[in-house]
Amino acid sequence: MLFNRKKNAHEEKIDPHNLPRHIGVIMDGNGRWAKKRHLPRSAGHRAGADTFEKIVKYCDKIGIKAITAYAFSTENWNRPKEEVDNLMNLLYEYLLQAEEKFAGKNIILRVIGDRSALSDKINKAIDHAIEITNGNTGIVLNMALNYGGRDEIVRAARIAAADALNGKIGISDINEDYLDRHMYTADNPPVDLIIRPSGEKRLSNFLLWQAAYAEFWYSDINWPDFSEKDMEQAIIDYQKRSRRFGKI
Ligand code: IPE
Ligand code: IPE
Ligand code: MG
Repeated sequence: MLFNRKKNAHEEKIDPHNLPRHIGVIMDGNGRWAKKRHLPRSAGHRAGADTFEKIVKYCDKIGIKAITAYAFSTENWNRPKEEVDNLMNLLYEYLLQAEEKFAGKNIILRVIGDRSALSDKINKAIDHAIEITNGNTGIVLNMALNYGGRDEIVRAARIAAADALNGKIGISDINEDYLDRHMYTADNPPVDLIIRPSGEKRLSNFLLWQAAYAEFWYSDINWPDFSEKDMEQAIIDYQKRSRRFGKI
C-alpha cells in the first residue's frame, strides 16, 4: 500500500565510495527452490548457476573487486552419488562454455579449494577457463570448489611446518600475517561481507579464517531467486554497519 510503503532499495542507493572490497557468497537453497516447484534438485542447481552468472556480472558492474562463491564444499561429497555426479556434470558443462561466458568479459576466474579430488576432465576445463580470463582486469571471481575453511587452514599449517623444517622460517615467523599470506585468498582484498541466502545462519565451513571480521548478511531467499536487487540491498545494509574491529 502506497501510504504504508517501507523505505527500500529503490529509494536507497549504494555509496560507491564504501563498497565491500571482497564479497563471499554461500550459494544455498537450490534444492529447496526446486522442491517448491516440484522439480528435480538438478533443476535447482541449474537455476542457481544462472543466478551465479547474473550476480557476478552485477558485482563487476558496480565496482566490487573480488567475489568468492561457494559452489561445492569439502562436506558436499557426503551427498548421494547421484547428486554429486549431477553437480560435477553441471560444473563441467559450465566450464565448457567458458569461452562464451568469460571471453571479452571483465572477469578474472580463479578456483580455490583442493583441486586434487576433482577429475582430470574438470581440472583441464578449469585450467582452460582460467587461461581465457587471465588477461582481464575486472572483478576476481574465486569459485570455491571442494573448498573447506578448515582444510584451507590445515593446508596453511602444513606449508608453515614444511617451511620451518626446511629452515626457511623460524617458529616465531608463523604469525597471523604469515598464515594470511598462505590462505587461498592471499592476493585478494580482505573479505568485507559474507552473504548467505536460503534462511540458514551458519558459515558451513566457508572462509573461516577470512570471516573473523567480515560482516554477515542473510536472507530467506533461495539462491536461484536471488536478484541484483537483493545484492544491492545487502550492500546498502553493509554500508550502514559500524565496523569497530574491537575498538570503541
Ligand atoms: C546449494 O544448494 C548448492 C550446493 C551445496 C552445491 P543446496 O543443494 O544445498 O540446496 P538446499 O540447501 O538443499 O536447498
Ligand atoms: C554450503 O551449503 C555449501 C555450498 C553452498 C556450496 P550446504 O547446503 O552444503 O550447507 P549445510 O549442509 O546446510 O550447512
Ligand atoms: Mg544447502
